Amino acid sequence: MKVGVPKEIRSGETRVALVPAMVSTITKMEHEVLVEKGAGSLASFSDEAYKKAGANIVPDAKALYQQSDVILKVQAPTVEEAKMMKEGAIYIGYLAPLTNLDVVQILAERKIVSFAMEFVPRISRAQSMDALSAMATVAGYKAVLIAANMVGKMFPLLMTAAGTIPPANVLVLGAGVAGLQAIATARRLGARVEAFDPRPAVREQVQSLGATFIEMELPEEDVETEGGYAKEQSEAFLKKEQEAIAARLPKTDVVITTAQIFGKRAPVLITEEMVQLMPHGSVIIDLAAEQGGNCALTEAGKTIEKYGVKIYGAINLPASIPVHASQMYSKTISNLFKQLFKEETMNFEDEITLNSCVTRDGQVVNELVAQALQKGGK
Ligand code: NAI
Repeated sequence: MKVGVPKEIRSGETRVALVPAMVSTITKMEHEVLVEKGAGSLASFSDEAYKKAGANIVPDAKALYQQSDVILKVQAPTVEEAKMMKEGAIYIGYLAPLTNLDVVQILAERKIVSFAMEFVPRISRAQSMDALSAMATVAGYKAVLIAANMVGKMFPLLMTAAGTIPPANVLVLGAGVAGLQAIATARRLGARVEAFDPRPAVREQVQSLGATFIEMELPEEDVETEGGYAKEQSEAFLKKEQEAIAARLPKTDVVITTAQIFGKRAPVLITEEMVQLMPHGSVIIDLAAEQGGNCALTEAGKTIEKYGVKIYGAINLPASIPVHASQMYSKTISNLFKQLFKEETMNFEDEITLNSCVTRDGQVVNELVAQALQKGGK
């Protein structure tokens, strides 16, 4: 098969789906790799590096899509990209399938067999294919660096002849993959870190990174799904949580929020009134900005300043670290590729293949996406 890697065209995207070092994982399986001219340039991977790795450079997107039997991408395709794919081709990449319904419909109509990185099941066997976790790691790390840059304080305890500087106080809300990486990064910089997550299993992970887990008296609820995700919390739960957070805000220099509920709007953990409790010059980095934000004032993609507090609605932080983000993403996508093509025909009885597939045989085969299309009247 010819496996094509187009240049990403969504605004702000710098990553590439396959880095030169991963080309051989595909060519070893006797497939050919085609890379659009300049596809890796924003991530510092030259066409020369791809050629050396055994890929063929194709001059433009049209030629690439026309020739490719399989497309590997980072960002969900646009309508134009979906229309450029060959009928019956295979798509592997992010799909944002629940919000990108027009594209999903085009993929189905054009009999494209599509696999969404978002739907790779979170089981141990699929960990090496988990792009969400890989990218959340990058985002959690970068969020702390941005915060350190925005706040007018240093993170570590410094005892100098010019006086003693106390460590900065960092509060991390949501200690999943991004939150844990944010905790680790803030700790490495010397900050004092507190964190909270409703899933009880997280307590030990937070503590093992040297942060304090915030104990809260919360209504007893079933907080976790079978897949290890948080369930949507009740209003009473969120109210209690907000109270516990509010008690800490007057002494907090940096808040990093990462709380998300799969398929739902992110919970509001910091209301406008709560922002007013924070010291002047403090910073909120909201990693849930694209899901509506954990702070009520967050504006996705913008930094705003209100009540003396800077609030950054972070979007696509992995694109700001394109070399390593592309490297990690490539690893996950090539592992999924290997999984999908390990037998002569795709095995849809395998949980990973089945769950990550969104369109096939001209149909939308993922139930959640099919329901979303029905609701949308399509
Ligand atoms: P995510 O990005 O959907 O959510 C981030 C975090 O927000 C989660 O830890 C969640 O519990 C937390 N959260 C939700 N509501 C909150 C609230 N009201 N206040 C504070 N925090 C709140 O989740 P992510 O990071 O992608 O994964 C979460 C978990 O899923 C992991 O920690 C792990 O247990 C599981 N997982 C399992 C994998 C596997 O077994 N292969 C792979 C990746 C994740």
